[in-house]
Amino acid sequence: MSETTGRKFALLPMLGHTKGKRSAVTCALKCDNACSGDVCNTSSNSYFRDIASTTMSRRAALGFGAAGALAVVLGNAVTSAGTAVADGGTGLAAAAKDGFGKSKLQFAPIAPVDAAVDAVTVPEGFTWEPVIRWGDPIFNGAPEFDLNNQTAAAQEQQFGYNNDYTDILEIPGSKGRRAVLFANHEYTNESIMFPATMPADQVRAVGAAAHGLSVVELERKNTTKPWTYVKGAGLNRRYLNSTVYELTGPAAGSSLVKTVADPTGRAIKGTLGNCAGGTTPWGTILSGEENFNGYFVAPGTSAGDKRYGLTSKATARQWELDDPRWDTRNAGYENEANRFGWIVEVDPFDSTSTPKKHSSLGRFKHEGANVIVAESGHVVAYMGDDERFDYLYKFVSAEKYRPGTAAADRAHNMTLLSAGNLYVAKFTSSSPAAEITGTGVVPADGAFDGTGEWLPLVVDGKSAVPGMSLEEVLVYTRLAADKVGPTKMDRCEDVQPSLLTGKVYVACTNNSNRGTGTNEGATEVNPRNENRDGHIVEIIETGDQTSTTFSWNLLMVCGDPAQGDVTYFSGFPVDKVSPISCPDNLAFDTVGNLWISTDGAPSGIKKADGLYKVTVEGAERGKVEQFLAVPRDAETCGPIIHDDERTVFVSVQHPGEDGSFDAQFSFFPDYVAAGTTPARGQVRAPRPSVIQVFRTDA
Ligand code: FEO
Ligand code: CA
Ligand code: CA
Ligand code: CA
Repeated sequence: MSETTGRKFALLPMLGHTKGKRSAVTCALKCDNACSGDVCNTSSNSYFRDIASTTMSRRAALGFGAAGALAVVLGNAVTSAGTAVADGGTGLAAAAKDGFGKSKLQFAPIAPVDAAVDAVTVPEGFTWEPVIRWGDPIFNGAPEFDLNNQTAAAQEQQFGYNNDYTDILEIPGSKGRRAVLFANHEYTNESIMFPATMPADQVRAVGAAAHGLSVVELERKNTTKPWTYVKGAGLNRRYLNSTVYELTGPAAGSSLVKTVADPTGRAIKGTLGNCAGGTTPWGTILSGEENFNGYFVAPGTSAGDKRYGLTSKATARQWELDDPRWDTRNAGYENEANRFGWIVEVDPFDSTSTPKKHSSLGRFKHEGANVIVAESGHVVAYMGDDERFDYLYKFVSAEKYRPGTAAADRAHNMTLLSAGNLYVAKFTSSSPAAEITGTGVVPADGAFDGTGEWLPLVVDGKSAVPGMSLEEVLVYTRLAADKVGPTKMDRCEDVQPSLLTGKVYVACTNNSNRGTGTNEGATEVNPRNENRDGHIVEIIETGDQTSTTFSWNLLMVCGDPAQGDVTYFSGFPVDKVSPISCPDNLAFDTVGNLWISTDGAPSGIKKADGLYKVTVEGAERGKVEQFLAVPRDAETCGPIIHDDERTVFVSVQHPGEDGSFDAQFSFFPDYVAAGTTPARGQVRAPRPSVIQVFRTDA
């Protein structure tokens, strides 16, 4: 394929693969057409219908003692305003005392916004502005963003593209005036980023430099003022395809991850497909390598290649033209794709630290990982594998968390994800599996809940999967899980434990293939065939977070009741909720409300994606209130709820995705009135950005 025709030629055939329910561009560039059917879970793992002899009641399972571990804060002098709450280990009791759910962030829900609207819509009394945009220079001497003349050298010093997981951590001692922002950059859309006249090799190089991660310092005059980023600040860092990550845990040094460029099997360059993530109690950031397969050409014939969606077709971005490692058919690089699909951990407070990839947490299409410290002191990470009919996982550390604030305590805690047990979830129910029907259906007693168990994959440093070594279980975790019979889920995205109650929430975003053809039909925990709008599962561990059994129920079955969709909101009146579709990222505010950002609502309920507050406890459990809507073609990512300060942050990813460079569909966030000259730094193209939404009277 020639240099000059490569870009278009690669993209067009891929677009044809999509089945058209969402943007074909998104499908091709973000997920490598995972929905086209050639990547789905084709394992023979059958549907498990084991019925528990007794159904554990939620109340018995919860127990107030079980909530003790919730009391984990970002200790060690690292505080994350709005990320966690110290409650002295009393969990629900303290939450109730403080007024569970009573947030300072009061707002009147917005009405659903038409998917074609190119605007950020916020509640009355609020306004928004970007914190940082694609291309903003973050280092001293970095060039200003120049839409028509981007270079790799410039992009390497600028904020990357398609920011997804985001967190903002206060810098200790700054009295709330300085913070460090983390964002990952999931993927690029070269069709709207660069003019058609840009040479193909330059497109590839700039696009590659727009991947990875960013850490940027923020400042504000006082705690009532919006944040601005600080160019040239000491903690600013870009993580690029050349950045070396240390592989930790049992797969480090394995023959399954060695290449000619890294004979140690411990030093991996770059991170790819970073989607959601989590912030640890010790103040580091986790980020999930999700659709890494789209960056590799591979033989595509082995069980591993097939199960991970690795194929022999040219990739969308064709980096394989520039570096042999992106084609695993090349001698010496057979294992390169095994070096992606991990959970990454970075320390945003040390710009010289070596980031890690943790093999103990398994290799799959990691949406993200969220950590809670169990009552026992072990840390537990919950993780979704975002592919239709794939699984929900949990990691339990071998060592215990040290709550102290000494540097040695933090250093110890930064080793916790390197060794431990790995499990995959199996859900059972006392009610028969049946597709739910009707509008606003309220399940009969016993439906929409049940019990479950965490099936072991790795225990005490040994493989628990017959016929597979420890290294094989960790590198080919999907194949290992297939052997033990977990429940096939409707695309687990973010999995978030509430630090106030210990309950765990699983965003199942959708699954258009459930019940179609020979695909598995509705199950108790995935109760809807051709699941267009997704649902949220609530898990209550038996005892503390390290338990191998749990009970579960559905918090909500998403959709728009007014459009006649089958929905359920824990019994809350369906005519009093904001319609919601395709839950993706989850976050909690400081008083225990669940916030959900969505990805795919335009193809579901035909509305713009948004951010929603959900009451999860008390009389109003199931109440959904829409806080904002994002611009045309965008999804809402990385919500951060600093409700004490009445501010909300989100990442706006892929605005204007379906446009072209010369006919853009979005001009977010630099909206310039027609006929006026853009101010410095404003461009006529969408720029994925982190935005802050705040009260105008703050
Ligand atoms: Fe990148 Fe699972 O969405
Ligand atoms: Ca997402
Ligand atoms: Ca989250
Ligand atoms: Ca998603």
